Amino acid sequence: MSEPVLSVRNLVAGYEPGVPIVRGASIDVAEKEIVVVLGPNGAGKSSFIKAIAGLVPVESGKVELAGKDITRAPAHNMVRLGLAFVPQTENVFPLMSVEDNLKVAGGILKPKEVPARIEEMYATFPDLARHRRIAAGNLSGGQRQMLAVARALIVHPKLLVLDEPSAGLSPKFVSMVFEMLTDIRKSGVTILLVEQNAKAALAIGDRAYVLVEGKDRHEGVASELWNDPVVAELYLGQRPATPRTGGTA
Ligand SMILES: Nc1ncnc2c1ncn2[C@@H]1O[C@H](COP(=O)(O)OP(=O)(O)OP(=O)(O)O)[C@@H](O)[C@H]1O
Ligand SMILES: [Mg+2]
Repeated sequence: MSEPVLSVRNLVAGYEPGVPIVRGASIDVAEKEIVVVLGPNGAGKSSFIKAIAGLVPVESGKVELAGKDITRAPAHNMVRLGLAFVPQTENVFPLMSVEDNLKVAGGILKPKEVPARIEEMYATFPDLARHRRIAAGNLSGGQRQMLAVARALIVHPKLLVLDEPSAGLSPKFVSMVFEMLTDIRKSGVTILLVEQNAKAALAIGDRAYVLVEGKDRHEGVASELWNDPVVAELYLGQRPATPRTGGTA
């Protein structure tokens, strides 16, 4: 593989010193890939990508973005470094209009570039153009996720990282979000995605990792993982998984 866009090595991270939630996880994301992180509830998937994005303290290990060490870079610098993170919730300013949400997100661009870039986002997401004067809090769940993603993309990130973009959406909006991610990848953006909706995520992903108890336990081609017995055991619970406590994760 050519130099990965994202390389994470033996990441250990947690909310309190000495209480690791992420316990030595390693992944790679190559240019223009969609990589999915799956795993049971509480496996540490959100904590893992938050640690990558500078939102959870890292105890040890290394995070590199396009060859540059970004381990422990503060979250507010990540966008400038090229990593755009879309959290699961509270990913838009609900009282601001759609357009103002995009303006704020474009804050690190040169001011004269912002209007054209907003128009490009409207061209990509026509629903947002139609609702540009609406407060973001009044959008549908699917449109809100679209805005959250547009806010991330407006600055031309090297890597788009998303935490469960389909969570809480009705089936119609779930397909809309996954189609949107497929289109975004076609436009050349590299994507790292955490999803509960394993089937839909594996359908659009190139490769996936299964995270169990804070560690990457299995990796494979997305299209094959759905039928992989190891995944069934680790994740889908068809056979008893590793005990949650006392295990050697
Ligand atoms: N802010 C926090 N402070 C302390 N512990 C936390 C915090 N957030 C999460 N945790 C703990 O970290 C562990 C992993 O949680 P995390 O949310 O990363 O898992 P997850 O795999 O994303 O789960 P889910 O599938 O439910 O989203 C859990 O035990 C959780 O209680
Ligand atoms: Mg989570």
